[in-house]
Amino acid sequence: MLNFQNDISLRQYNTFGIDAKAKSFINVKDSNDLVEILSQNSDQEILVLGGGSNLLLTKDYPGLIISIQTKGIEIIKEDKKEVIVKVQAGENWHEFVLWCLEHNLAGIENLALIPGSVGAAPLQNIGAYGVELKDVFHDCEALSIATKKLEIFNLNACDFGYRSSVFKTTLKGKYIINSVSFKLKKEPHWVNTSYRGLEEHLQGKEKTIQNVARAVIEIRSSKLPDPKIIGNSGSFFKNPIIPIDDFKKLELKHPDVPNYPDKKGWIKIPAAWLIDTLGYKGYRNNDAGVHQNQALVLVNYGNAKGSEIKALAEKIKTAVQTQFSIDLEFEVNIV
Ligand code: EPU
Repeated sequence: MLNFQNDISLRQYNTFGIDAKAKSFINVKDSNDLVEILSQNSDQEILVLGGGSNLLLTKDYPGLIISIQTKGIEIIKEDKKEVIVKVQAGENWHEFVLWCLEHNLAGIENLALIPGSVGAAPLQNIGAYGVELKDVFHDCEALSIATKKLEIFNLNACDFGYRSSVFKTTLKGKYIINSVSFKLKKEPHWVNTSYRGLEEHLQGKEKTIQNVARAVIEIRSSKLPDPKIIGNSGSFFKNPIIPIDDFKKLELKHPDVPNYPDKKGWIKIPAAWLIDTLGYKGYRNNDAGVHQNQALVLVNYGNAKGSEIKALAEKIKTAVQTQFSIDLEFEVNIV
């Protein structure tokens, strides 16, 4: 029996803790139920929720919200060096990282503590501390909402970019990810400590995947607010990538601007630095604010409305445009 709920609060289903309502809502524990759910609701607008950790709800949702709660982690292929692990979409991302550490499988230790679900991870090609999902991605199984058929997307088909994939661009809203398969390494491991700060954190310690994960957890916990305590969605903005000529002009005015070379002729600038330089770090208007330790993260101190967070984001975007002539893009999905 499918258990649809009506007019329920979504507060516990989004890490911003926004108290918007869904007209209709269903928890899915078995992906075989999805075809029937879609058939029964073909006239409704549909929104699929993973961990709700990259989402800003600015109004009550007028359609059906499908919350994916499917579980299961399985090694489906293995040789002396590698394993392919298939993970159901509803598994919690960080719990899957811990599973890999317990099984001594390398690849996603730098992605420890990222909030959200495994099924949501490919959507924006999650990344942190020098590693992105695409580096360990094998393929994913996704259900087409139009045909109700399962399709396999390999690395190429996903068209991963910086915090982007085909599921966020051309195929947005058209598929439900059922499971993701990862290619992970057995010992001997190679660990990626290229990201500034990570190497220092590991001084004097053995470079094991467990120690890398521990260092990442420490760094993240010191900078990023815990959504269980203060509502947030991690980085609200993407780091802009600008042409080198624009960067040179910016550097003349601001010799201290941090910068990282990107694709040829382009430079990535930390959005946090732009926002911080404009004095917004720690800014607060009612319950909507900018986190005091990391200017890239917008926070809900309690009862902010999604529209108030969005207004703050727009205000920052306009200020950055006016002051630096740089267009900030939202990383978070605004609904
Ligand atoms: N900075 C400031 N003010 C601040 C914070 C940072 O000026 O308040 C400057 C510093 O110069 C710092 C630089 O910005 O060196 C970069 O900051 P940080 O290393 O904290 O990383 P980030 O570029 O702000 C990105 C990701 C994070 C990821 C970290 C670590 C994006 C949009 N964000 O942040 O991802 O955890 O790198 O790899 O790419 C997320 O996507 O939700 C997320 C948290």
